[in-house]
Amino acid sequence: MIDFIDPVYLVAVIVFIFGLKAMSSPRTARVGIVIAGGGMLFAVAATIAALFVPSTSAILGVAGTPALTNLVLMAAALAIGGGLGWYAAKVVRMTAMPQMVAIYNGMGGGAAAAIAAVALLGTSGTDGLSVAGAVIGATSFTGSAIAFFKLQGWMRQKPIVYPGQSVSSLAVLVVGVFFGVYAVLTATSFWLLPFFVLVLLYGVLLTLPIGGADMPVAISLFNALTGIAVAMDGFSLSNDAMIVAGILVGAAGTLLTLLMAKAMNRSVSNVLFGAFGATEESAGSVQGSMKTIDIDDAASLLAYAGQVVIAPGYGMAVAQAQQKVKELVDALEAKGVGVKFAIHPVAGRMPGHMNVLLAEAGVPYDHLFDRDEINAEFPATDVVLVIGANDVVNPAARREGSALYGMPILDVDRAHNVLVVKRGQGKGFAGIENELFYRDNCRMLYGDAAAVIGALVQAVKRA
Ligand code: TAP
Repeated sequence: MIDFIDPVYLVAVIVFIFGLKAMSSPRTARVGIVIAGGGMLFAVAATIAALFVPSTSAILGVAGTPALTNLVLMAAALAIGGGLGWYAAKVVRMTAMPQMVAIYNGMGGGAAAAIAAVALLGTSGTDGLSVAGAVIGATSFTGSAIAFFKLQGWMRQKPIVYPGQSVSSLAVLVVGVFFGVYAVLTATSFWLLPFFVLVLLYGVLLTLPIGGADMPVAISLFNALTGIAVAMDGFSLSNDAMIVAGILVGAAGTLLTLLMAKAMNRSVSNVLFGAFGATEESAGSVQGSMKTIDIDDAASLLAYAGQVVIAPGYGMAVAQAQQKVKELVDALEAKGVGVKFAIHPVAGRMPGHMNVLLAEAGVPYDHLFDRDEINAEFPATDVVLVIGANDVVNPAARREGSALYGMPILDVDRAHNVLVVKRGQGKGFAGIENELFYRDNCRMLYGDAAAVIGALVQAVKRA
């Protein structure tokens, strides 16, 4: 009989690639997720089916390991994991998405580490690749768990730092890896215990000094690490689907990590070891006062403008104001005002955060402009409406010495008028004062973004 598992894995891998490609544009991302999920379902179903075909079980590379005979346990794990994942994804709030990605990714890392453990304990994985897979998977598992706790507010969000931190963390990793290699070389599984304890501890130590707001970058890095761990497990188990899927996740996660770090003008090592946000920056050279405007005056300014540019940020996501924002766009367009959106690549707390929210509310995609496309237009823009954005519009980024220095920003301060919607004097994620709010062309509209934009919609209709 011809073994079917390799051709099936090949098809699954091709489907993954098509899915990933579709995910690269907000227009096709939903379809891409369904396609990639379908590919995964296909691969899992084929793997289970292959267990019932004796000649293929050897191809799976782990014939004889106890896990593949525990069908009841496997079915229970699939049902519990699949059920919990389905439910959690249904009820999660958009603002809680980063921690959900963290915990799911951590599970992937844990699974990769567990597979490596089974391989190391069995006969099929007495090689360095399994040790490497276990180190990377375990680090990603506990690192992602700490990321989840920080983002969920279950532990201190600020960087946790202490003297000699980097050296002691590195020592834990080095000693851990030594035990792992020793266990393989001497074929004594006893040493796997301290090996796993130490590499799991390393993930915790690596993540403690990372501040809550830098976590999305760390999560993306852990995501890449999980992919690499899975690929290494794939090599050690001769499983082609795991190799290719792992490499895809590893490559995509690495690119995303680099892109996010670049958009924040930080290096990845600065995110990991810089303990960003551990100290508060003083207000520095900010002078003047913040001036308010009432809803009716703001509405007149908007309704009689030629062009309005809306710059949304994290606060719009917190307030879930996107639907009201769409109503405002409709009300302004009905009055003949041109409306565009300025989307900063790291506005919000995850890549594409603003795009997803606005698409969900039905804002046409052609209204959205990247920083590079829109920045030249601000000097000719009558009114910029900043909704819950702070750091991504902070002109301090142009001032040497500021913690934000060098971060590419939306140049909203160059518009004729700037209206800023936020609840009060709260700072952005970087924790520094925003010079924009003190400028002469800037007026504050205090309140929750959903309530303020709702009131603006009514006032614009009346104007
Ligand atoms: P932030 O700088 O975080 O500022 C958000 C502002 O929203 C706050 O100043 C807050 O002020 C206001 N706000 C909060 N809740 C609100 C509500 N319900 N209604 C109205 N306003 C509300 O946001 P941003 O400009 O989008 O910048 C994102 C930051 O996150 C950047 O520094 C970026 O580097 C960082 N970051 C982003 C990512 C990705 S991938 N997006 C990843 C890592 C880090 P009040 O408290 O006064 O209301």
